[in-house]
Amino acid sequence: MTDRMPPQVTLLLVGAGLAALGATYWHFYWRKEVCYGSWTSLNKTGLKCDLKNKLFGQHIVAKVILKAVTGFMNNKNPKKPLVLSLHGWTGTGKNYVSQLIAENIYQKGMKSNFVHLFTATTHFPHEAHIDKYKTQLVEWIRGNVSICPRSMFIFDEMDKMHPELMDSIKPYLDFYDNLNGVSYRQAIFIFLSNTGGEKIVEVALDFWRDGREREEIQLKDIEMALSLSVFNNKSSGFWHTSLIDKNLVDFFVPFLPLEYKHVIQCGLAEMARKGHVKNKKVVVKMARDLNYFPKEEKRIFSVQGCKVISSRLDFYI
Ligand SMILES: Nc1ncnc2c1ncn2[C@@H]1O[C@H](COP(=O)(O)OP(=O)(O)OP(=O)(O)O)[C@@H](O)[C@H]1O
Ligand SMILES: [Mg+2]
Repeated sequence: MTDRMPPQVTLLLVGAGLAALGATYWHFYWRKEVCYGSWTSLNKTGLKCDLKNKLFGQHIVAKVILKAVTGFMNNKNPKKPLVLSLHGWTGTGKNYVSQLIAENIYQKGMKSNFVHLFTATTHFPHEAHIDKYKTQLVEWIRGNVSICPRSMFIFDEMDKMHPELMDSIKPYLDFYDNLNGVSYRQAIFIFLSNTGGEKIVEVALDFWRDGREREEIQLKDIEMALSLSVFNNKSSGFWHTSLIDKNLVDFFVPFLPLEYKHVIQCGLAEMARKGHVKNKKVVVKMARDLNYFPKEEKRIFSVQGCKVISSRLDFYI
């Protein structure tokens, strides 16, 4: 017996080692999320299909979102970050649409390291700590945009967010080339709130009373109804005024209240999502037990939109 391995065995071992190294590199290169290429690029067809097939009763939203997101993502040199402000009654799809946008830009959707969701009452609950929140939030945005310029920040419950906190992020939404060496022009900011929700309902109700189709409602009909008086109202939309004043919001996106027929659509989609065969009888039973308003008229709109459907459905299946 000799201590030395035959050259063929040595070659084989070295080869196997190199192959293992290569496989590891390949694995990390392809699996680790990075801020370029297909990890952070828009799937326009996907977004268009999702807005058409998965989002119910929101024709204005579908149109505005597709135009806003596509225009921004196709622009190689945007002058400012994309700022969207989503408004409307509860359960009409504001978080859902943010999720659809995230899924069609980031391969990992809402789980992406480059997508950040803040909820006012969860992340910034105590007014007394506002200074601490301001520092943390600004640092978080700066740090993350310097790692990935194509970062997305979603702020939920904007109507409950302290105005000072809003003020602290305003510079990042503006037309600056860069702030302390970091450029925010590729970033996306989405604000969600119920601000103006009641006015949007009024417009939808007026159309219904006039016997006009819901699909006839245009963005300008709602923009007119949502005069600055709504946004100037301290409790409902104080935060928004400062954004509008400085033209920082690129698109105002109104969500219409959902009707019975949309609740049925949501119910059927939810059944499929839960892995069941779609059963209209079951969904109708559930939809009939939900509350609708206005009570004095024909109870057209769902009080909770499509929000409780996922949990309610379990009782009827
Ligand atoms: N227009 C819609 N089309 C399809 N599904 C919807 C729609 N609206 C709501 N849903 C369903 O209901 C769920 C809850 O909606 P979502 O959380 O987006 O409501 P929201 O507008 O953010 O309400 P809130 O103002 O109470 O936060 C969604 O995850 C989705 O499954
Ligand atoms: Mg929501």
